[in-house]
Amino acid sequence: MEFFDSHSHLTDEKFNDDRESIINEIKKESITKWTTVGYNVESSRKSIELANKYDFIYATVGISPNDIPQKEDELWKELEIIENFLNLNNKKIVAIGEIGLDYYWNKENKDIQKTLFIKQIELANKYNYPIVIHTREAVMDTIEILKNNKVVKKGIFHCCPLNRELVKEALKLDFYISFAGPITFKNSKNAEEIIQMVPNNKILIETDSPYLSPEPFRGKRNDPRNVKYIAKKIAEVKGIGLEKVAKMTYENALKIFEI
Ligand code: NI
Repeated sequence: MEFFDSHSHLTDEKFNDDRESIINEIKKESITKWTTVGYNVESSRKSIELANKYDFIYATVGISPNDIPQKEDELWKELEIIENFLNLNNKKIVAIGEIGLDYYWNKENKDIQKTLFIKQIELANKYNYPIVIHTREAVMDTIEILKNNKVVKKGIFHCCPLNRELVKEALKLDFYISFAGPITFKNSKNAEEIIQMVPNNKILIETDSPYLSPEPFRGKRNDPRNVKYIAKKIAEVKGIGLEKVAKMTYENALKIFEI
């Protein structure tokens, strides 16, 4: 049995002291592929470096709605750097992300968030990539942008909010739903209903590490090994074997990332 963690941040400073050794440990525990996701210029650059170094790690690049610099001209300079990464034509880059809207952490700059999201969708289409979406308290605007700005290679709702309307629309748009730690939390009441809504060929699993540790590790540093707990929860809810969940989510990840 092997697992694919569709979303981690191995470049995070929380891994600075033991990144090399933890990567070996992760690999030993049958997590045989994973992505490390960029959210600004620096993390995107580091993700590419890590992916270049390890053949089983893949990178995504992009600017998240929570990493928009104060000065607008700086943002557009940063976006140019992201485009330069894409121009490297590096096969280890597998998506644009994480990108999207976040009205929970940033309510003051909705317009610039939307503009940045759309510009990065355009980049995805220009360079033929799927997108990795971060959305928080911005369901309707996210869906509206996706309806008006078709993403040719589709994409993934990362750490998908457990919102029925969002999942329904996401599936209509033919996007993938990636589940993370919150589905294992005891207080996530509708997790089971949402998991049941997503067909097997559209489910991905992720850790979003070092954040969002699943039960029973809630509050501790997360890493891709814990993606097994997400798979276990899905297996329980769907009444299928863990092996089947591992296999289908692995195949789905290979498909969307074109690996
Ligand atoms: Ni993330």
